[in-house]
Amino acid sequence: MSGDPPLALAVVVPTFNEAGNVATLIARLDVVLAGIAWEAIIVDDASPDGTAAVARRLALTDRRVRVIERIGRRGLSSACIEGMLSTAAPYVAVIDGDLQHDESLLPRMLGRLKEGGVDLVVGTRFAEGGGTGEWDRDRLAKSRFAAGLSTIVLKAELSDPMSGFFMIEAEALRALAPRLSGIGFKILLDIMTAAPQPLRVAELGYVFRERTEGESKLDHVVALEYLIALYEKLFGRIVPVRFALFASVGAAGILVHFAVLTAMFEGLTIAFAASQAVATMVAMTFNFWLNNLFTYRDRRLRGARALLRGWISFCLVCGLGALANIGVAAFLFEYRNMLWGVSALAGVLVGAVWNFALSSRFTWGR
Ligand code: GDD
Ligand code: MN
Repeated sequence: MSGDPPLALAVVVPTFNEAGNVATLIARLDVVLAGIAWEAIIVDDASPDGTAAVARRLALTDRRVRVIERIGRRGLSSACIEGMLSTAAPYVAVIDGDLQHDESLLPRMLGRLKEGGVDLVVGTRFAEGGGTGEWDRDRLAKSRFAAGLSTIVLKAELSDPMSGFFMIEAEALRALAPRLSGIGFKILLDIMTAAPQPLRVAELGYVFRERTEGESKLDHVVALEYLIALYEKLFGRIVPVRFALFASVGAAGILVHFAVLTAMFEGLTIAFAASQAVATMVAMTFNFWLNNLFTYRDRRLRGARALLRGWISFCLVCGLGALANIGVAAFLFEYRNMLWGVSALAGVLVGAVWNFALSSRFTWGR
């Protein structure tokens, strides 16, 4: 047993390429959290700029700093969740590592939670005392749009549902953890929608600062992940999001198939069988590439060898899937007297599930 006062607060800091910011953040936490027994948990996804090493250097002499370095994984939400679950502190906060959030809010957030009556305190840019700094009209409009979409799944009024700056009781978070999706950027939405009853939220305004070091990771992929997370909340239990993505990619592949077939057979008057064979290979390759990019973005195959192996196994799986498809459709049509359209559809569905199940096991399995 040490004589230190028990830990009161864990501040989780997700980072990706924030090497130039972490030391400043810790120095600021040291100032604003004076008198509170805190620890900071930096959750870094193996940033190429060496953020984790910088953080470990800090941790070497400051026992309040801890580092989780994740290898081969990316994701803001899941990083926050892992950080929050890794502490013994009774209260946990999440704050960006790029100094855009106002850390001086933390003591007030803690005070508000300790007062009781609320489950969650959120730093907001859209309430009294809040602001977005130098944002242009375009960024404001995008933020509003995303916030508007979120009201579909949200069970409570929140002025800034996109905020990544909040504090919650660790036990409450632990209770919700098994229900969190961990997808994408919007950890707060994830928490809010995972709760069986609406969470009681208090909001504290702060002004979103300009980033001075490094750059934002919010891009189109992040926007897509946001949509995926919303989908997961709405229909995830009915049709898993991965299968929905896989099926959408498959549908896009059919379009590619017909485009190639038309160009070769109609346009270049190449023999039908040859055209069909080429179209099939092109569509399969296209599907492999898209699935690798989106459907299995968290297990993405990289490097020539891995890609070649993956592509071959994907083609084999899909080839067998096509046989399963034809077998089922023919059986239903010939022996069960089903309508040809229904038989074909059943075949396609069986083929899709087959392709999905086997490729997730063999092509993108670990
Ligand atoms: N571990 C980890 N993994 N951290 C990440 C990742 C990731 O894949 N992507 C981003 N981060 C870290 C960044 O290093 C930063 O500390 C924080 O998450 C926020 O990322 P930014 O790239 O700075 O995003 P932003 O400034 O555009 O987004 C901010 O505003 C959003 C609302 O518009 C953040 O506050 C978001 O949390 C917030 O939702
Ligand atoms: Mn930022």
